Amino acid sequence: MSDTPQRLLPDLSPEAAALLDGMLKRFKAVVPLKGKHLAELPRNLASLSEALTSERSRLPRDYMGAPATLNAYLQYFLPWSVYRLGRLLPALDLGLADNARILDLGAGPLALAQALWIARPELRSADLHWLCRDKALKAMRLGRDLLERMTPKDSPWSVRVEHGSFGAEPRGQADLVAAVNLLNELFLASKAPEADTAARVAEHLAILPNESGRLLLVEPGTRTAARQLVLTRSELIENGFRPLAPCPHDGPCPMPGRRNTPWCHFVMHTRGAPRWLTDLSARAGLAKQTASLSFLLMARDDHPRPDMVRVISESFDLPDARSGQYGCSGRGLVLLARPKGSPMRRPGDAVPATWPEQETRDQKSGALVLED
Ligand SMILES: C[S@@+](CC[C@H](N)C(=O)[O-])C[C@H]1O[C@@H](n2cnc3c(N)ncnc32)[C@H](O)[C@@H]1O
Repeated sequence: MSDTPQRLLPDLSPEAAALLDGMLKRFKAVVPLKGKHLAELPRNLASLSEALTSERSRLPRDYMGAPATLNAYLQYFLPWSVYRLGRLLPALDLGLADNARILDLGAGPLALAQALWIARPELRSADLHWLCRDKALKAMRLGRDLLERMTPKDSPWSVRVEHGSFGAEPRGQADLVAAVNLLNELFLASKAPEADTAARVAEHLAILPNESGRLLLVEPGTRTAARQLVLTRSELIENGFRPLAPCPHDGPCPMPGRRNTPWCHFVMHTRGAPRWLTDLSARAGLAKQTASLSFLLMARDDHPRPDMVRVISESFDLPDARSGQYGCSGRGLVLLARPKGSPMRRPGDAVPATWPEQETRDQKSGALVLED
């Protein structure tokens, strides 16, 4: 197969890493933490992390409003969210140009706007019109303060923050509608079965972008969040959308995370993350070498696309001195197999698919075997 993959999740550029590093200074200027709050931060972090990453049934209702949890979010979850987005956004075709309108749902402290500024320098001179909505107004205002401390006074970006719940946004106007780390909270708050929640959420998401607009959904890389995202994906396809990334097809997802099955997510190393952030993580007992996410970029687009395979696992050993990696394709799960020692792909790479004349299936997974 081809040696020129389309690559997801590239490393942060040195400039992006420096801007991310500056978040702590900007945070201290916007929310000066005093003795008691500072001392309590690692403990607050650890308990909020538990609530945010477990099945989330214990997520405090007002965690984005109460000072202790809001501070923990701003100093820890926000920079990690910006880090993950900073790795994700450079490789995505978001369809943004001068005068584009962006609708950020569940915007919180404006992780997406900060990450776009940091990771997409070519968009800093574009007239981007942001409408950020969340039920937590204070978090958005603090996020806007943080953004304004990074952007020049004459920045062409306009950023409006608006208090509001999911379901009451302006329809059909945005060139990009984004929801970052929101969907799992909508599912958590819903009493309906997951399939019904996915249908309701997707039906509403589908009316928000304009005719050529895109939808960007980003979630934590947990099985539960990925499963909910995959359900929402199927419903969005029913509503006329198609995945642009990461799925190279609009058929059923081969890694839907149902019960104990694998789930579609991408794991990245944390090199380039600020030292103060990795230190703080370690002090809170949350040290991490990797970060992960699941995402979907979709549009109402019916252009024919070449057959591609998206690499979705690290390399592992196969019998007979061979190694392999799983990939996602229009023909379902595939196993890219090669002699052991040959260069492996990076998870997230997309490579043109070359279908074999004779079909061989991997015994363990049932994946179609492709020679890489
Ligand atoms: C985990 S935070 C994500 C914030 C930000 N997008 C980020 O990635 O850092 C989830 C946000 O969704 C908001 N949220 C949850 N349910 C909502 C709803 N029904 N309507 C509006 N906002 C909601 C919360 O207030 C919170 O700010």
